[in-house]
Amino acid sequence: MGKLKLKKKAKKIIILSVVLFLFISIGLHSCIKLYRQKQYEKTNEYKLISLGYSLDDTKVLLDKLKDKEIDYLLNNSKSDLYLNVINQKYFIYDYFYNYIDYYNKNRGKNINEIVEIINTNRDKDYYTSTNDTDISKGYLMLTNKYYHLNEEYIPENLTTISTTYAYGDYGSKQVTKDTYDAYMNMWNASHEAGFYLMVSSAYRDYNKQVSVYEDYKKKQGEKYADSIAARPGYSEHQTGYALDIFEKGYTQKTFQDSESYSWLLNNSYKYGFIERYPKDKENITGYSYESWHFRYVGIDAATYIYNNHITFDEYYAYFVK
Ligand code: DAL
Ligand code: ZN
Repeated sequence: MGKLKLKKKAKKIIILSVVLFLFISIGLHSCIKLYRQKQYEKTNEYKLISLGYSLDDTKVLLDKLKDKEIDYLLNNSKSDLYLNVINQKYFIYDYFYNYIDYYNKNRGKNINEIVEIINTNRDKDYYTSTNDTDISKGYLMLTNKYYHLNEEYIPENLTTISTTYAYGDYGSKQVTKDTYDAYMNMWNASHEAGFYLMVSSAYRDYNKQVSVYEDYKKKQGEKYADSIAARPGYSEHQTGYALDIFEKGYTQKTFQDSESYSWLLNNSYKYGFIERYPKDKENITGYSYESWHFRYVGIDAATYIYNNHITFDEYYAYFVK
């Protein structure tokens, strides 16, 4: 009898222990769950979703932005604008607030155009907010109406283009050695295709650009001069990477209708050259269409620019700067 009682008691204890264990486990599990939930509620993911962003959009926002911008988003109501900006092909993180600010001041402009404007500094007037050209970028250095070289800058390794390939006296047309080599390769290929290219202008030092610019200004006024020539220090010709190229016998007016121009348009990128001031990009480059002005930027950049129909100004902002 005593044994049976003992057995029953042991059974009771075991059942009670199991029940107690289950209670504690469930309680603990709930506590952990609650704790985890509380922790999750502190995350930006939770806060963004609570604000109305979908999980997918939230992931994009968290991927492309840092805490500072996420705080900004959390302090504003949900808007598609931010995602729209971030999803632009050439979105640059550093310009996030500039895009938003420009959008707010210029309602009606589309985001694609805003990104293009901000990336290329065009929220500021030409020549009003300028920077030194970063010459350490070599053949990817940028000079435009926002970036300039100093008066003393002379490129290294200037190489003369012989009068077989250039107008003027021997020694008068020079470019950097890499530009020269690429140009000769291109010249040979174009010659095989039946053309005869001639260089009419290449490296121009600061003082030469003073006379080019001032000449236009004197004859046709500042506005016209600014549309066709760079102010001294702001010209690509001072970098030694720019060339004005014509088919023998053609002029600035007629070159755009020549077959050699078409050939250059479709083949120059293979040798590292780009058409620098295209017809439909005047608002970006700040210069009138120049069918003759080609710039050496290396084969990779030239190929990208050719395939994606962008300007060097845009390429520089996104890939080089
Ligand atoms: N014609 C180009 C813009 C220059 O002067 O550099
Ligand atoms: Zn030129």
